[in-house]
Amino acid sequence: MILNQELEYKGDLFPSKIVSFTQEVNSFDFFSDNSVILRVSVIRDSLIRFRYTTKGYFSNDFSYAIDKGQSHGYNFLELLESDDVYQIKTSKVVCIIRKVDMKVAIFDLDGKSILEDELGFHWEENYNFGGNIVKMSKASKEGESFYGLGDKASHLNLKGKRLENWATDQYAFHKDQEPLYKVVPFYIGLQNKMAYGVFFDNTFKTFFDFCAERRNVASFWAEGGEMNYYFIYGPKMQDVVTTYTHLTGKPELPPLWALGYHQCKWSYYPENKVKEVTSKFRELRIPCDAIYLDIDYMDGFRCFTWNKDYFPDPKKMVAELAEDGFKTVVIIDPGIKIDKEYSVYAEALANDYFCKRADGPYMKGKVWPGECNFPDYTNPEVREWWAGLFKELISDIGVKGVWNDMNEPAVMDVPGKTFPMDVRHHYDGNPCSHRKAHNIYGTQMARATYEGVKRFSYPKRPFIITRSAYSGAQRYTSSWTGDNVASWEHLWIANIQMQRMSMSGMGFTGSDIGGFAEQPSGELYARWIQLGVFHPFCRTHSSGDHGDQEPWSFDEEVVDITRKFVELRYQLLPYLYTMFWEYINDGVPMLKPLVYFDQEDPQTHYRTDEFIFGNQILVCPILEPNAIGRRMYLPKGNWYNYWTDEIVSGGKEFWVGTDYDQIPIFIKEGAIIPKYPVQQYVGELEFEEITLDVYYKLGKEKSMLYEDSQDGYDYSKGRFSLSTFSLRGKENELIIQQHTEGKFETNYKRFKIVLHGLPFQVASIEFDNDVISLENAQYDGKTILFIHKDFTELHITGK
Ligand code: GLC
Repeated sequence: MILNQELEYKGDLFPSKIVSFTQEVNSFDFFSDNSVILRVSVIRDSLIRFRYTTKGYFSNDFSYAIDKGQSHGYNFLELLESDDVYQIKTSKVVCIIRKVDMKVAIFDLDGKSILEDELGFHWEENYNFGGNIVKMSKASKEGESFYGLGDKASHLNLKGKRLENWATDQYAFHKDQEPLYKVVPFYIGLQNKMAYGVFFDNTFKTFFDFCAERRNVASFWAEGGEMNYYFIYGPKMQDVVTTYTHLTGKPELPPLWALGYHQCKWSYYPENKVKEVTSKFRELRIPCDAIYLDIDYMDGFRCFTWNKDYFPDPKKMVAELAEDGFKTVVIIDPGIKIDKEYSVYAEALANDYFCKRADGPYMKGKVWPGECNFPDYTNPEVREWWAGLFKELISDIGVKGVWNDMNEPAVMDVPGKTFPMDVRHHYDGNPCSHRKAHNIYGTQMARATYEGVKRFSYPKRPFIITRSAYSGAQRYTSSWTGDNVASWEHLWIANIQMQRMSMSGMGFTGSDIGGFAEQPSGELYARWIQLGVFHPFCRTHSSGDHGDQEPWSFDEEVVDITRKFVELRYQLLPYLYTMFWEYINDGVPMLKPLVYFDQEDPQTHYRTDEFIFGNQILVCPILEPNAIGRRMYLPKGNWYNYWTDEIVSGGKEFWVGTDYDQIPIFIKEGAIIPKYPVQQYVGELEFEEITLDVYYKLGKEKSMLYEDSQDGYDYSKGRFSLSTFSLRGKENELIIQQHTEGKFETNYKRFKIVLHGLPFQVASIEFDNDVISLENAQYDGKTILFIHKDFTELHITGK
């Protein structure tokens, strides 16, 4: 055995042998004779935290990412000591810590290796800043794949890549560009059909290397702070992702309108331009719920002010837009213009709320308004003040959502595009430099915004969107992927980014549909909207530099395609809302890459294009011009072609032809898909009934439908309605049982049930001991019936 001390790997330092250990309930401290302490804390049977210090003591334990409300507890915990190792065993895993060099290896209960230290923990002292550069190397198995890490614009499987986490304003980024706007230091490894996760909760600049530098080594390191990571056991990827999401937190339900279609541009002004755009949506009958005001609504880009030439009476305008079903969302940036006459600046100055340089002056940098100072959102008092600033916008003017931008934080015309590293931050009582606070700055801004918008929107739900984010930001805000480009490559990137964000706990995300920089062709825009309606956040945005990007800026065919797909989104709102409810309740990602859906099938490990929207709809975008179809892969099982109802069995690659106004969409057999009637905006119509599209299956399948009052907090007091549909198909029979929980009464009274793919001719239809005459079950190639929504059992038999 080679000992670390003998390795002298690049001059790095290593723990030496363990000389003692202590235990406190679920936490074990192992002491080396060169002052390293490894603290292993068992949080859950499948969630173990590893923390290292080289000083002989630990500093204050503080994290912005970890959700304080996450659940703790384990079923089994045991520590055994032998001559060479310590062994910590839970009901899911065994963790071995070697006495000779503190190396860690984790196995499942069958003794299969999951994750083992290669060099393990090592470090380099940082002479310039103090502290250490902390490093970890793990052995990687043959055929191992890697996923996660937030908004990376790379292949879904990160094997062979080196990634950097440093929140950056990356205008017109390109494929594989590093780093980007968000920081999610969480990855999922998949080897031998077993998945595990690692969350490296360190806000300094971090790096991940997945077998790029050395073939069989996966490593991660940070430019400061602690080696502090959480190991998450699967073996199903589903369990890894949900455990990570529980650990870093889930959002509240957004108002349902926020799941509608949003229209944005830099910038819509003056008022009559805004109204021209909103009216055109109504005229062309393309559903739309939100209209955005970019920086030009402000007076000289001063946050919380209005340009009164463009918007003489914002309150009146916002109210008129609301009359027509449009919610107004406004941008708010972190840079506060240096201007003594400007009340926000004056208040912050008087209270010493701005970030300071190491030697005392306020951090000064140029953004849209010119020279600015920047609030230190890592100070709770500053967050409280910031939250209070939203009173006028929300309570008085009636704005419904706030868009936080430039919060990496972005600074113009300087190298590095951000604050210098000496800038000081409060960090909630753990004072530090920008090296540590940089990656969390945007999240703390969004958090303060969320607190303000929520306070003044209450009892309605807030809506926030941010560009920069660190793990855990999902508790406060949705996000978008920043300044992309109107190119086919970016359509590919957007598809991957959204799947990756979903797997990284931050599912409420979308791209700028059509591309922010440059101008899409009508065809590219059409292909983008066809994908975008299947992203949790769905907004067209553009820089406006190169022309217009409203659907009608393209030809009529594009307008029709946009309408068709946005209408589909509005029909699927109850399905999407149910997905969201599963996300906030169980941490289930809303979009599921194929590898997440079926990790056992090695064919899925490198698929990027197809994904599952919710649990039962497979979407495969068209990512090339002039396509008349594409090759694609369907996971195992039978699927219905959404457009034709043809049944295709998966587990293979095949060609599917599509028209310009279609993309491949497949429905899992047995699924029951709820649909609302098309509305021009959420809440426009009161409906008599909703549709359930039932896809026959020989066998069983469960589907869900979650509903509530679509806004407000009554749902948290039990006023929701959750129906579980159990479908059972036999050769000559179809049975659907419904079980409903919750105290919410929907307005509609009936389900319109549309049966797809019945393999038999209907002989009788019964529900809850009532018989429906066959004349009342209308045929139009399909069997359609109307039954009371509270049915408990529907029984259809064939001839
Ligand atoms: C940034 C944002 C973009 C916005 C622009 C002007 O580039 O990413 O979405 O339109 O600033 O505010």
